Amino acid sequence: MADLRFSGLSRRAFLGGMVGLAAGSAFGAGTGAAGDGFTFILCSDLHAQDVPQGETVIRDIVNAARRENADFIIQMGDFIRPDATALREIWENKNPATGFAGGRYFAIGNHDLDAVGREAFCAAYTDTSDPYTPEAKPYYSFDHKGLHFVILDGNETNTKFRLTEAQMAWLRADLEAAAGRCVLFSHESLDHELENGAEARALLADVNRKAGWRKVVAAFSGHNHSSYDRAIEGIRYIQINSASYVWINQDSKVAKRYPPEIVDKYSLMNNSITYDRTLYAVVRVDARGIHLTGVKGKFLPPTPQDLGMADPDFAFNKCPLVPWIQDAEIPFRDTPPAHA
Ligand SMILES: [Fe+2]
Repeated sequence: MADLRFSGLSRRAFLGGMVGLAAGSAFGAGTGAAGDGFTFILCSDLHAQDVPQGETVIRDIVNAARRENADFIIQMGDFIRPDATALREIWENKNPATGFAGGRYFAIGNHDLDAVGREAFCAAYTDTSDPYTPEAKPYYSFDHKGLHFVILDGNETNTKFRLTEAQMAWLRADLEAAAGRCVLFSHESLDHELENGAEARALLADVNRKAGWRKVVAAFSGHNHSSYDRAIEGIRYIQINSASYVWINQDSKVAKRYPPEIVDKYSLMNNSITYDRTLYAVVRVDARGIHLTGVKGKFLPPTPQDLGMADPDFAFNKCPLVPWIQDAEIPFRDTPPAHA
């Protein structure tokens, strides 16, 4: 696994590069870009039925989508078990006054496949009345106001994380055919977690080289319950923290965090630390770029420092151990060629 200790350097280097941002750069080509842009909500790893605050987490995300006037929500896996009907009702509430009327898209997480098969999970969470997802598929893409959204399924099984050969072939064809800029979403990251992540990253870089402009701009992921931002060959790889908690792989002194009845009900909490608020990102897209603002929380004590963790900034999985989602600016630096 790559050590992300130096990921902050690439972010600083990137921010320094923003000075030369070209004015009036296009959103995409030939896709009817909306001048004023749009907003979507991005979240991951709710694990809603496994955390004491699961209901609040779902409600906070739905409420944020309504409040921000988002066009849709993308959640990147380890979500709500399909049989958790009371929690699903909160998520699926499309009443514009109390829920969220817009679309909901998903990437499949490994734990989504613990209890049900892939087809059942897709069938449960695909809104087939949505024009962008008329069929329940594990990986798919759609265009929205000039941006091309690609959703990947990195679970060959729920313990083996890679993009199948068929999916890699589909991904190349899909990106090459796309008219506008492309953003990718997967549960397991292309930069840190997928077995064939290097091959997938090379594919993205190759698409950009052949296109002659930075067509693929970013790949977002979850799974590690962390927050970081790396640039590799001009493409941003951004990890979105869990909405709910982080697994620390050791005794978390849960009895100091919750009363006994909660501890009994949510055994995952014995080795995890919850966040004091729901983490998600509000993502604004306009002609200049993608502007991501993440919720900043705190650990519910005892914190990693309280627990005496040797290197609390980096958890056992070599990802930053932080209770927030860091902000990100992804400028659309170059314009597509006129024929694109
Ligand atoms: Fe997870």
